[in-house]
Amino acid sequence: MQDRYRFIGPLYDLLAAIFSLGKIDRCKCAHHDRIASGTKVLFAGVGQGVDAIEAAKRGGDVTVVDISQTMLSIFKKRTDKMGLASPIRIVHSDIFAFDEYERYDMVFANFFLNVFPLDTVLRLERHLASLAKPGGCVVVGDFCLPSGGAAARFFQNLYWYIADVVFYLAARNAIHPVYDYCTHLKDLGLAIEQIKYFRVLFDDRYYSILARKP
Ligand SMILES: C[S@@+](CC[C@H](N)C(=O)[O-])C[C@H]1O[C@@H](n2cnc3c(N)ncnc32)[C@H](O)[C@@H]1O
Repeated sequence: MQDRYRFIGPLYDLLAAIFSLGKIDRCKCAHHDRIASGTKVLFAGVGQGVDAIEAAKRGGDVTVVDISQTMLSIFKKRTDKMGLASPIRIVHSDIFAFDEYERYDMVFANFFLNVFPLDTVLRLERHLASLAKPGGCVVVGDFCLPSGGAAARFFQNLYWYIADVVFYLAARNAIHPVYDYCTHLKDLGLAIEQIKYFRVLFDDRYYSILARKP
């Protein structure tokens, strides 16, 4: 498996914290109040996994999947040091090969979908929804759609494209406009139950969408 995060992976969380003034980490845990002891939780493309660790601290039964051995090694080192009461299951895999259908109460895709071109995102959202139990949910944390006047939208787009170009150069992520995840999830038949927004400077830059499967 090709590891595109071999060089940028170790820097990822630090860059995200600086770029977002800490808001990305808050966004990734925005719906963790719904995780209780025994809640079955999946983190797709987990990276260094701040969000998965927080879920385990809440007693969640946590599985993480990532294609990058670099990211998973960093994650494992972190969790080994912590001695968590509920151990986290680590799966080194392409998410498309992960086929535990309808087993999870919550499926998280935090800053994961934006890595891919649109056709892959649409397939991936369908796949992630298929991993959630009926009545379970999919949570997407990511850059929110630009909104407001022309100047505001210009700066929000600029903010996104700076991140996008850096990760295109570093990890071959796709170059694309900010995706409309709410519309995609609704098109899959999920109901948008709650959205939490996170501001940086003057505008909302990130959101966490909780979408419920019928
Ligand atoms: C932009 S990083 C986000 C990491 C983490 N979710 C976060 O918010 O910090 C994207 C992650 O997705 C992983 N990834 C990319 N393609 C993947 C795939 N097909 N299957 C599983 N993981 C993948 C990368 O290795 C990387 O760790």
